[in-house]
Amino acid sequence: MSHPETSRAATGREAPAAHPIEPLIARRWSPRSFTGAPLPPGAIERLLEAARWAASSNNLQPWHFIVARRDAEKEAFERLLGVLSPNNQSWARQAGALLLSVARTHNPNNGNPLRHGWHDTGAATALLALQATAIGLQAHAMAGYDAAAARSAFGIPERFDPVAAIAIGEVGPPEALPEALAARETAPRQRRPIEEFAFFGGWRG
Ligand SMILES: Cc1cc2nc3c(=O)[nH]c(=O)nc-3n(C[C@H](O)[C@H](O)[C@H](O)COP(=O)(O)O)c2cc1C
Repeated sequence: MSHPETSRAATGREAPAAHPIEPLIARRWSPRSFTGAPLPPGAIERLLEAARWAASSNNLQPWHFIVARRDAEKEAFERLLGVLSPNNQSWARQAGALLLSVARTHNPNNGNPLRHGWHDTGAATALLALQATAIGLQAHAMAGYDAAAARSAFGIPERFDPVAAIAIGEVGPPEALPEALAARETAPRQRRPIEEFAFFGGWRG
């Protein structure tokens, strides 16, 4: 397994943070160039363990992940790849693993709608992505997939929502991508400034 400091996982892609943040957060990004290497042994367990320790409303842990590694769950990998948008398929096929996050939508204790199912599933996915960065990999979430097709392809029952597809793997060079995608791979990383999204003391539209 490549070491995070020496791998290309975050080379030149660190977030230009306006205030000091944890280096691990700055090094996480969403690449499209993956090498096609399978995940290193033990990696998927470490990623899922990180997700496991996310906070959740009432500790209900409403997240699930369908895991399709390119070497171990080959058929599921192709099935998940098949429900991605054509644009996402073009690069995600080189990932070491494809995951589908799925959120429980109802409280299993009383059947009430679970307002924070997607929230908590996103929180678990964020921890999974940070753990990927920490071990020299990166994760790239995708909304560009057919959720109804994913539900039927994997037999996801009612009261569970497919949330995001996630490509995970070892980062490849931008040059391995077609020109348009390569340009996005090296474009400056940008964010809205804090004052645009944080309203101190009350809502300010
Ligand atoms: C829920 C979610 C859905 C996304 N969907 C896609 C997608 O379908 N295709 C894609 O190329 N990137 C997708 N992205 C990646 C975002 O474009 C990316 O996170 C954003 O541009 C910020 O870049 P960074 O993650 O490298 O900081 C998605 C990210 C998230 C969190």
